[in-house]
Amino acid sequence: MQKLVIRGEKRLCGEIAVQGAKNSALALLAACVLCSGEVVLKNCPALSDVFAACRILNRLGCKSRYLDHCAYVDAGGMSECAVPEDMMRQMRSSIVFLGAVLGRKGQCELSYPGGCELGPRPIDMHLSALSQMGVKINEEYGVLCCECPKGLHGARINLDFPSVGATENIMLAAALAKGETVITNAAREPEIADLGDFLNCCGARVSGQGTSTIVISGVDKLHGCEYEVMPDRIAAATYMSAAAITGGELDLKNARAEHLGAVIPVFEQMGCRVFSYDDRIYIAGKQPLKAVKTIRTMPFPAFPTDAQAVVMAALTKAKGTSVVVENIFSSRYRHVDELVRMGADIKTEGKVAVIEGVERLYGARVRAADLRGGAALVLAGLAAQGETEVENLCYIDRGYESIEKYLRNVGADVCRMTS
Ligand code: UD1
Repeated sequence: MQKLVIRGEKRLCGEIAVQGAKNSALALLAACVLCSGEVVLKNCPALSDVFAACRILNRLGCKSRYLDHCAYVDAGGMSECAVPEDMMRQMRSSIVFLGAVLGRKGQCELSYPGGCELGPRPIDMHLSALSQMGVKINEEYGVLCCECPKGLHGARINLDFPSVGATENIMLAAALAKGETVITNAAREPEIADLGDFLNCCGARVSGQGTSTIVISGVDKLHGCEYEVMPDRIAAATYMSAAAITGGELDLKNARAEHLGAVIPVFEQMGCRVFSYDDRIYIAGKQPLKAVKTIRTMPFPAFPTDAQAVVMAALTKAKGTSVVVENIFSSRYRHVDELVRMGADIKTEGKVAVIEGVERLYGARVRAADLRGGAALVLAGLAAQGETEVENLCYIDRGYESIEKYLRNVGADVCRMTS
């Protein structure tokens, strides 16, 4: 078991080069299954979830290796179409392999992802969309057996909710399907645009990615390509919060302001100064921070649920009362009790969290219960008086590349220990 030990109250200052986006890299790695030549994914973050996706690729008979922020995938020899349960468990977002494997092989077998640390993760929209494209689905003892006896065909699919994963699965299944697929009420997240751009680089015909209507005209074959994964907007938001909570000053390289359109104004309301230029965001924290009006998590371009916990960490020290409404996941306040152990004043009721800013947080031994909630505890530790131990680092490692090194480089006193 690894933990982070943080001695707080150090002001962070300097430059951070933000990693490639986890959520984009995972979808692109699944998409490689569709390609008949080698794919080189540059700026691919060194994360346990990325390595888990590479293991799934290898299990499917593809060749994948990872070296120095590049993933090399050759799906030419893909022989299997089943993802074993233990691999599905390691990474719940592996459901995105469903559309890709179906697109390539016309059949796929994987276990149902079930509930996880954020609450139930249903996939009804994924399955209904795929069945509209000709997929027959059988669920037996938690295993999904999918096949398309007559091949995949295009369809007009309207999503009840702009689900990121469902949009990705449909795009992947549609890339090599017969005819045209039109997704309305599609997710508009930047990672969806990245997936569409990647598929086009491989010879697909996708348009409208990043808008609510995506059109995919199926092609016969996709080839390999070299592609650079977009920067991670949630890691950028996390480091912005680190600057805010420590009253520091950070220059984030590889951070795109257009991906953080609903997040930057929140830091400005807190009193931080934020400037963006080229692919950089500069942020200077202010002490004391000011409370903000209600933050509501919603699909892109509104405030992202993935940034809720890390922004809440900064709000624990913001003078006044802030309100957060979590609209996307039912169980995404598991960091709250741990923040309260550190002296934060937060009350939750259902979707709503009310945060009364406190003058001081105190070091404590706390446990990450999920990825972003874990990052929030690290941020609180950076600002807390005394020593904080954050346990269950495995959650944080799923989404942040050596978080302790990035933070140490800008002045934090933090180290990783094995207990
Ligand atoms: C993706 C991201 C995750 C982010 C989330 C929302 C990846 C690997 N993960 O997750 O980090 O927090 O988008 O931006 O990219 N839903 C259904 N039925 C479905 C599908 C979804 O009810 O078939 C519900 C979910 O329970 C949730 C909401 O829709 O309440 C949003 O889920 P979705 O957008 O699908 O998130 P993920 O793709 O799982």
